Amino acid sequence: MKKLKFLNGDSLPALGLGTWKSEKGEVYTAIRKAIETGYRHIDCAFIYFNEDEIGNALNDAFRAGDVNREDIWITSKLWCNAHEPEAVKPALQRTLSDLRLDYLDLYLIHWPVSFKKHAVSAQKNDDYINPEELPDHITWESMEFCADEGLTRHIGVSNFSIKKLEALHKQSRIRPEMNQIELHPYLQQNEMLDYCTANNINLTAYSPLGSLDRSDMMKKQDEPVLLKDAVINGIADKHRATPAQILIAWALDRGTAVIPKSVNPHRIRENFEAQNISLDDDDRVRIATLDRRYRYVDGSFFFLKNGYFTYESLWDEKV
Ligand code: A2P
Repeated sequence: MKKLKFLNGDSLPALGLGTWKSEKGEVYTAIRKAIETGYRHIDCAFIYFNEDEIGNALNDAFRAGDVNREDIWITSKLWCNAHEPEAVKPALQRTLSDLRLDYLDLYLIHWPVSFKKHAVSAQKNDDYINPEELPDHITWESMEFCADEGLTRHIGVSNFSIKKLEALHKQSRIRPEMNQIELHPYLQQNEMLDYCTANNINLTAYSPLGSLDRSDMMKKQDEPVLLKDAVINGIADKHRATPAQILIAWALDRGTAVIPKSVNPHRIRENFEAQNISLDDDDRVRIATLDRRYRYVDGSFFFLKNGYFTYESLWDEKV
């Protein structure tokens, strides 16, 4: 298993199990199956509303002796309505309680977007906090305190642009050690990869398979379907692999962590076996041509009329 190194010597198993969209009633079995298969990295978040069931699965796996706590990496994320300084630690404690853990390996600010406390999903402008009143580094300071207290071993961010990482970098005592972002052949983000490599920030690729199971509300018409891409399918045939395995192998080959989501036992294993595939230069060159800066998760749920966020201000890039 490939591992990503952290400055203190800790290492993160590069291939993890994603749990966004893993429904209650399904995620327990998925976690148990993943651990049995050999996954040692589980990616969670408060807003996936399934951490309690994941906690039951982890607890049962520990009790059954399938894995020890120190041998599995658990990531979770701070939701947007807990960015005010006094809200961060209670949010982390809630996640720890749901996951039935004493500490996380990694805690991330889920989005560089702040909601007021009452708003789990922000529907109107008044549900948001003006980013100038609550800059990311204020929330970050509370994340640092959580790391100081040992509630989480590492801290990082998710969905941050280079510009936002730079700003945080300058104001932080503990540097962000991870940026979890959407990454796949249609959204390769090479500049981000170079920036993070140069600054000792690890990257985790979310939606590596194109997240076809997003709700219709989150989908655009005529979206390109990554798993059906002709180049990816051609490379899959060449390696006697599946398209999903090629997408996972590509992410691992680039030195990122990758968290394909599945609740299907067969696909959980299939995805795990992707780590045995070695892409060659010809594959790399062909996949490099697929980049079209296409975001499946473009953050448009944050873009309200006269609101604080637009595509440009969220991602610090043009549409
Ligand atoms: P399922 O959970 O039924 O396996 P992403 O990780 O990009 O969010 O994609 C998750 C979606 O991809 C889910 O719909 C998941 O379905 C599906 N999926 C996971 N693994 C595979 C695979 N090996 N082949 C095809 N689809 C997959």
